[in-house]
Amino acid sequence: MQFQRRFEAEGHAGRPLPSKVSQEILIEAQHYLSILHQEHGVSPGYLQRLEEMRTELEHSGTYWQTEEELSYGAMIAWRNNTRCIGRLNWQTLQVRDMRHLSTAQDIFIEIVEHIRLATNGGKIRSMITIFAPQHPGYPGIRIWNPQFIRYAGYRQADGTVIGDPLHTELTEAVRQLGWQGAQGGPFDLLPIIIQMPGHSPELFELPRDCVLEVALSHPEFSWFAELGVKWHALPVISNMRLEIGGISYTAAPFNGWYMGTEIGARNLGDVNRYNLLPLIAKAMELDTRSDRTLWKDRALVELNRAVLHSFALAGITIIDHHTAARQFVHHEKHERQAGRALYADWGWIVPPMSGSTTPVFHIPYENRQITPNFFYQDDPWLE
Ligand code: ARG
Repeated sequence: MQFQRRFEAEGHAGRPLPSKVSQEILIEAQHYLSILHQEHGVSPGYLQRLEEMRTELEHSGTYWQTEEELSYGAMIAWRNNTRCIGRLNWQTLQVRDMRHLSTAQDIFIEIVEHIRLATNGGKIRSMITIFAPQHPGYPGIRIWNPQFIRYAGYRQADGTVIGDPLHTELTEAVRQLGWQGAQGGPFDLLPIIIQMPGHSPELFELPRDCVLEVALSHPEFSWFAELGVKWHALPVISNMRLEIGGISYTAAPFNGWYMGTEIGARNLGDVNRYNLLPLIAKAMELDTRSDRTLWKDRALVELNRAVLHSFALAGITIIDHHTAARQFVHHEKHERQAGRALYADWGWIVPPMSGSTTPVFHIPYENRQITPNFFYQDDPWLE
């Protein structure tokens, strides 16, 4: 705000930009630049840089961010995302600037490299790879997959699904593009689909050896391993748009590490995902005839113990929901000390099991979307 007033006072703001879009980008650029300068002190100075951005916007309808603007912006986008409980770590994000790549093939190579570097043999590193920005008003680069590592879902004639029911649509879409499907099993890796602006989507198979997976076993139930359930170690979200200073990065895949409940409570537990609770309850010989026996709750706990146990055994970073919630409360304190408000989406921050046993359950949050941030985009196969 203070910067804005100074800027206007010096008479720059009155000079009209060619289009409304450019004006909106300049407002966002100015907003971001003031955050960057307040928090992070960079050169060139605020006014000089703003003038550069304005001139570039005038001539080309966009502007190219410096590496520092890009990497700090990515960190703030993480910090601002109200649905993430792991934001305490926002400053540890490793940023890979891959804006110079112009072919799907080269992008795919860096996707594989991202998976290898972030997996790091199990000691997971938070990482983002940023590909070229969208030119305002034109389509941007899109990665069709919601995450790099996802299991296919094959819809059967009788309506049931083999694999992950969340991905039946994507599985259909890649089959339309000519994918032969893998084994037709419950954990088939989907290929990566990359679409360059104005081009048809291209398919790439991930090399098996870059994808780290964990076979699930239980600390006490020896039968658990025989269920043949596994999950992947690395969650890399690849379909969100990163917005920094008015510039949109439509392909900017990022990862942290898993919180156990994402896998144990949701991916494997949800009725419309792998729906494992009835199977586990049966193996535990629970009375599943009445909800009041709490067979679902008991099976859920054991499934989640299996997830945490198996990841730990394999030496793969994972956090339990109690620790994550406690860290989030720490984060809240840090942010307050830094003079910043913390916005959060309560329904996403409170873990999907044992909510009231974690501190975040008892705290009300305001859910406000501020920029920089990560935003949802429409699925490209629907466009
Ligand atoms: N919930 C998603 C999944 O189960 C992953 C979302 C991102 N999670 C994370 N820990 N960074 O695959």
